Amino acid sequence: MKAVVYRKYGGPDVLSLEEMAKPQPEGDQVLVKIHAASANPLDWHFMRGTPLLMRLQSGLMKPKNIRIGSDIAGFVEAVGPDVVELKPGDQVFGDFEGSGGFAEYACGPEKSLALKPDNASFAEAAAIPIAGLTALQSLRDHGKIQAGQQVLVNGASGGVGTYAVQIAKAYEATVTGICSTRNVELARSLGADHIIDYTQVDFAKSGQTYDLILDIAGNLSLTSLNRTLKPNGMGVVVGFSSLWRVPPIALFGSRVGKQEGKSIGLMLAKIKQEDLKELRDLFAAGKIKSVIDKRYPFHETAEAIRYLETSRARGKVIIDIGDSDAMI
Ligand SMILES: NC(=O)c1ccc[n+]([C@@H]2O[C@H](COP(=O)([O-])OP(=O)(O)OC[C@H]3O[C@@H](n4cnc5c(N)ncnc54)[C@H](OP(=O)(O)O)[C@@H]3O)[C@@H](O)[C@H]2O)c1
Repeated sequence: MKAVVYRKYGGPDVLSLEEMAKPQPEGDQVLVKIHAASANPLDWHFMRGTPLLMRLQSGLMKPKNIRIGSDIAGFVEAVGPDVVELKPGDQVFGDFEGSGGFAEYACGPEKSLALKPDNASFAEAAAIPIAGLTALQSLRDHGKIQAGQQVLVNGASGGVGTYAVQIAKAYEATVTGICSTRNVELARSLGADHIIDYTQVDFAKSGQTYDLILDIAGNLSLTSLNRTLKPNGMGVVVGFSSLWRVPPIALFGSRVGKQEGKSIGLMLAKIKQEDLKELRDLFAAGKIKSVIDKRYPFHETAEAIRYLETSRARGKVIIDIGDSDAMI
């Protein structure tokens, strides 16, 4: 079978497509024949070995695990002896946390997978995992979203943002999306009630306040977040324009605005099967859809990552590995 591998850290040019042995599932592992994968910023963090802190996990001088890729959709081909629910032939989607999703076959734990929505193609299902889980957990678990709240999504047009706008609407919030001019119509089409074009308006100076702010673009200062949160409001920082933004938020986020009951914190998405199932149900009910910007054939995976690294993707970037349009 073919897999995308990287033997050293660097730009997309370190990725190559190589022939290797098909993995075999052990214990609670499931072997998936992959039809589609999607790219995430996490993949280029692995590929580049940045921020350096993550090398504690991925390998100090060179990657410990030479395979790359996280979000996948495909068929279960075989299961390990401890697998409980899934069986060969099931159509699944999920996340293998940067350990081999860009391949014809990959093995991962059963708890990282769920049955794919019947109404989703493999490409649409592969778009969901990291971005959808991040959006769902940011809004529901960290943001404690409630119907009728005013929710601001900064970075409404990217992988995470396109799901966040739709999930916030599914929770019956009033949603304001921040994006650039070219993405205004996209954000509106996803259900955003109000849109702020960041190239024209500085939202922090508008005087408008919000119950919940998701900073996905990761460029809002602690001061701006505090100023634009309502009393008892929650600020959830998802992305980072720079690593230097982490310490002030981690150290002072919960203290700023404490007297007014405000709280600002970082979030780290977790791969949870029950949340994959919730996303599947939202998709099946037509409450969320996958916005796919570009698709690349398997042998152009490096191009897909190169495009994602521009931070200009509108929704998700898909890598077609098998019959990714199929909706069987
Ligand atoms: N904490 C976690 O667990 C977690 C999980 C997943 C992702 N993340 C992080 O979240 C961030 C977003 O991930 P993603 O998958 O959505 O990335 P992405 O798809 O690459 O995001 C691209 C989008 O970002 C928008 N954008 C860029 N600069 C912006 C700005 N200044 N203001 C508003 N929007 C801006 C772009 O829209 P325009 O072209 O209109 O600017 C584009 O549509 C990344 O930093 C990623 O590492 C964190």
